[in-house]
Amino acid sequence: MINEKLNLIIERKSKSLEAIFDAIPVGLMLVDENLVVDRVNNAIRRMIGKDFKYIISNSIGDALSCKIAIGKRCGEGDCCNICPLKTNIAKVFNTSQAIEEYEFESETFFREKGAKLWFSLTIKPVIVDERNHVVVCLNDITDRKLAEEKLAESMELKQQFISTVSHELRTPLTAIREGLNIVLEGVAGRLRKKQREFLLLAKRNVDRLSTLINDVLDFQKLDSGRMRFDFAYSDMAVTIKEAAETMTLMANKAKVEMSLNIDPQIGAALFDHNRIIQVLTNLLSNAVKFTPAGGKVSLSAFQQNDIISIAVSDSGMGIPKDDISKIFERFYRVKRPGKEIAGTGLGLPIVAQIISRHEGTISVESELNKGTTFTITLPQKGPHDLPVPDKVKDEILEKTIS
Ligand SMILES: Nc1ncnc2c1ncn2[C@@H]1O[C@H](COP(=O)(O)OP(=O)(O)O)[C@@H](O)[C@H]1O
Ligand SMILES: [Mg+2]
Repeated sequence: MINEKLNLIIERKSKSLEAIFDAIPVGLMLVDENLVVDRVNNAIRRMIGKDFKYIISNSIGDALSCKIAIGKRCGEGDCCNICPLKTNIAKVFNTSQAIEEYEFESETFFREKGAKLWFSLTIKPVIVDERNHVVVCLNDITDRKLAEEKLAESMELKQQFISTVSHELRTPLTAIREGLNIVLEGVAGRLRKKQREFLLLAKRNVDRLSTLINDVLDFQKLDSGRMRFDFAYSDMAVTIKEAAETMTLMANKAKVEMSLNIDPQIGAALFDHNRIIQVLTNLLSNAVKFTPAGGKVSLSAFQQNDIISIAVSDSGMGIPKDDISKIFERFYRVKRPGKEIAGTGLGLPIVAQIISRHEGTISVESELNKGTTFTITLPQKGPHDLPVPDKVKDEILEKTIS
């Protein structure tokens, strides 16, 4: 009596487990060590388009209508030794370690017009009826992969379009600027005051446009990884001073006092001189731009444990708390009603990309109407992934320092 009840309970349990197995929307197969399919769920049956009786007790190749398996036994085809399904199942049997979400492309399964299909594969070892098995979870992810490919293609097209347009704009713009300069210098005759004013206005706008175009081109190149970096050992203090000198005129014009405090011990480091100048002039121009006349900007740098820290501080307008996390986003500019300050919103994204390529960091602290400090850190020995062996790097560094 008790036995009968027990059997009934077990039978009911196993039926509900079967129902759950069948209802799972992801393809599941139970495969034994001979690559023979023991069980599959409904999702696999729908995926393959065959009835259970043509799937169960067959090899996985036959069950999945693998083209290579036709006329040959599964595993005996010319390229069966590189079949992602077979090799991964074998790996799991050999190591007893699961494989999670391995993605692969196949044109041999299901035979449909030879179209390529993408699958995500998860394989887990299990013991069923006291024998080693694996549960193979097969997910058709072709739609997702095609959508990703299309997205990548359209992103590439967009980038190409922006680059081409920017390049095409740059050449005539240079000619316009040269023309304006020649006329402004009086080469084409004396200018009246009003004529000069209008030409200066035109020149300011041409300059703004060319800054925007150069920023867009630089950002595109950095973002797509196409920007070439020239890493070389040189004296970081010299680079910092050069950047400060470049910005002196702008600071003087804005009546902002600029001070420099560079630790003479910094010495040589492995970095791209021109790109770090670009970073520092960007940060300094922001500091000057967003600091009212009479304010101060300071540039300081020191080195500790092979890390160079450079800080650009100002006593300016500061950045509202809510905006701080967004200022590194492309084209983001803090709204400052009543104050029209020129810019593209691409300076900081460019800075962040260059610093990241150096494997450095950038951080910002700011208080509204008190000032802002941007701090960057750079590893003295440059990024890890440079094709210069570490030992050689160290030797060069020592030579340069001594
Ligand atoms: N030193 C600073 N003080 C105040 N605000 C700053 C400072 N640096 C950057 N910002 C804010 O971050 C925004 C983004 O900077 P950036 O990408 O260089 O663009 P842009 O200088 O072209 O406006 C600026 O518009 C400004 O609002
Ligand atoms: Mg800027």
